Amino acid sequence: MNVQTSGTIRLASIDDIPEGQGREFHVGDRYIALFRHQGQFYAMEDVCPHAGAPLTNGPLSRGTVTCMLHGWRFNLHNGVCVNLPNAPAVPTFPVTVHGYDVYVTLPPNDTGAQ
Ligand code: FES
Repeated sequence: MNVQTSGTIRLASIDDIPEGQGREFHVGDRYIALFRHQGQFYAMEDVCPHAGAPLTNGPLSRGTVTCMLHGWRFNLHNGVCVNLPNAPAVPTFPVTVHGYDVYVTLPPNDTGAQ
């Protein structure tokens, strides 16, 4: 578990996240899903806004992740639900890669994301 809970935090090595998959990280009181999709990394809260299921294990396709519980699909870039436009979005977080390390930038406390 990380001690730092906001700001820019190293989450993983690029090799920790296989292409087309996600992994969950616990940072403070947040659960963060880090995905690798078509060579890019994306981070969002690992909590589906519908009924709270984790998104980490959802299939990735065309820039989206699908919640395994009821099929809501979320844009990996901005967290918007693409099959139910009025549904709440999932908070997303900026990701940067330096060398082999993947960093996420988290806002303070529970104030949401970008
Ligand atoms: S909990 Fe994710 S779609 Fe229902």
